[in-house]
Parts: sequence; C-alpha cells; structure tokens
Amino acid sequence: MKNHVREFYDTIGWSRVGDGLYQNARYEDLRPVSQEYIHNCHLRVKRHLAPTGKYLLDAGSGPIQYPEYLTYSEGYRYRVCADISITALREARKKIGGHGLYVVADIANLPFKTGVFDGVVSLHTIHHLPLEEHPRAYAGLHRVLAAGRAAVVVNGWSRSPLMDPFRALSRLRKRAWLFARKVLRGRGTGDGGPGTRDRGPGTGDRGLNTEHRKLNTVLRPPSPKNTFVEKHDPAWFKRTIAPQIPAEILVWRAASVHFLKNYIHEHRGGRRILRLLYRLEERFPRWFGEKGTYPLIVIRKA
Ligand SMILES: C[S@@+](CC[C@H](N)C(=O)[O-])C[C@H]1O[C@@H](n2cnc3c(N)ncnc32)[C@H](O)[C@@H]1O
Repeated sequence: MKNHVREFYDTIGWSRVGDGLYQNARYEDLRPVSQEYIHNCHLRVKRHLAPTGKYLLDAGSGPIQYPEYLTYSEGYRYRVCADISITALREARKKIGGHGLYVVADIANLPFKTGVFDGVVSLHTIHHLPLEEHPRAYAGLHRVLAAGRAAVVVNGWSRSPLMDPFRALSRLRKRAWLFARKVLRGRGTGDGGPGTRDRGPGTGDRGLNTEHRKLNTVLRPPSPKNTFVEKHDPAWFKRTIAPQIPAEILVWRAASVHFLKNYIHEHRGGRRILRLLYRLEERFPRWFGEKGTYPLIVIRKA
C-alpha cells in the first residue's frame, strides 16, 4: 500500500498541472471567494507551535505546498521535511533550500532521536496509513517532540455531522435532476429514477465494508486518480489515541471542499457566510473540531 502512495505522489500528486499548482491542489477550493477563510484556517496551525527553536519536523511535508506553510518554520533554524516521496522533497528543497533538511522516511517509523524537535507539524498525511498504523504514527510524533513543546496534526474525519447533510442534499439534487431529465425525455422513471445509483464525487460507499461501517471509518482504495486513504472518527480517536498521548481536538477547518465548491458563491454572500463560520469556529473550537470536517489536533509533551 505504501508503495502505491509513494508512486502516486512521485508521478501524479506532485506533478505540476499549470499556474505553479500541483495535481494535489484539485482537492482544495482555490476560488477567490474562499481564499480568506482558507488562509485564516492555515494560520491556526502556527498558534500552537513554539515560535522559535532549532528543528521543526514537517512529517509528510509534500512540497510545502501553500505559502502559509512557510510561516510555520520562520522562527526555526531548520525545517526537517520528512516524506515517503522523493519528488515531494525535491520540490520542497526548491522552496526553502538551506533552511531545510530532507529525509525520505515513513511517518509510522520516524528515524529520529527522542525529544529532538522543538515543533512538529503533520498535515493531511496520517490518513495515508492503514488504520492499524495510526497509533504508531501519533506515538512517534509525540516521542520525537522535546519536553514542553507541541505538535500539530491535521487530517479529515471519516464523517462530519455538520457537512454530511450538505453532501446528502447534493445527492438528492442530482437524483431529482436525473429523474426530471428522464421524465422530460419521455422515457418514464425506469431505473434512472430517484433510486439511480449516484456516481457523484465521493458520494458512494466505495471501500466501505461491514467492519468500516461498525467503526465509522472510511477506506478509499487506490485508483488511477487517487491513492489509498483510511480515516476514522472522533470516537475512534478518543478510544485509541487519546489514552496513549496527551492530545486536544480543536478545529482546523469545519467546511469541507465539497461544501465550499457547491454552496459558497461570490454572488450569494459566500464571503460573509465564511466570515461568520470562521468567527463561530474561533468561539467554539472544540465543538467545530469534532463536528466539522478537519480537526486540528494539538499534542503536548510534558
Ligand atoms: C496529502 S499530501 C500532504 C502534503 C502536505 N503536508 C500538505 O498538507 O500539503 C500527503 C503527503 O504525505 C506523504 N506520505 C504519505 N504516506 C507517507 C508515509 N507513510 N510516510 C511519510 N510520508 C508519507 C505523501 O508522499 C505526500 O507528500
């Protein structure tokens, strides 16, 4: 599985698709209407890190894809970029040169001394490990952290009570549209009616088996356009990770990319809606951290 992930990022995920963007950016909403919200969410990471230090670990650094990411290591002597993909590290080196140290490494088996990092970030990476390796990855990030310092981990939950209804609504709208189209074409409902299988992006039960349903986890198997992902929910995190290491669940970003792209529009007050959402997230970070799409998990070392 890890070979697939590495190959995917080496050959597809970190290939340039124009305008300085990587193929991986297709998972983000890059429209101006969402820019301010996304920018402010990125900056949340830095608040929890020690402002200065010798080494900051970026575990699963990728190419240090967004400008805000550069700010996390501003007060550090070195940013240690660790990634399973050599392409990611080559691209990262183009951005930060001598400020970086570049290590091909597996986040579930970090090859670093205990307590050597003054700060750690790991963004959107642990979900590429099979679920049984997530505890080892979290434990490793905690192990390499220096005493009194903090690590920040961001990954999406397997479900979001706040965002999932919008996905269901999109599915419903699509089915209604397909149904209307069939009726208008005079072909009756047939098997293209409301019960039509929805092939919309990410809306199917791909990769879900009974075990995943029971645990509220989601597994996305590799495909030509995607690679392996396995996610869990807050209950799994509290049961499995929180008893092992001191971790707090806050919000990174409640809004999913699907919600942004489908429900936030310039001409329908999109900016105002996102400003309000951001303010609410700031006021109730724990609630939005558990109910939204992406938590920001702060790990502190005593
Ligand atoms: C979705 S990208 C995120 C990159 C970056 N952190 C960001 O937020 O833009 C995931 C990155 O994790 C790396 N990765 C995946 N599995 C890994 C593993 N087991 N160990 C280290 N890096 C891994 C991939 O090569 C890729 O660069």
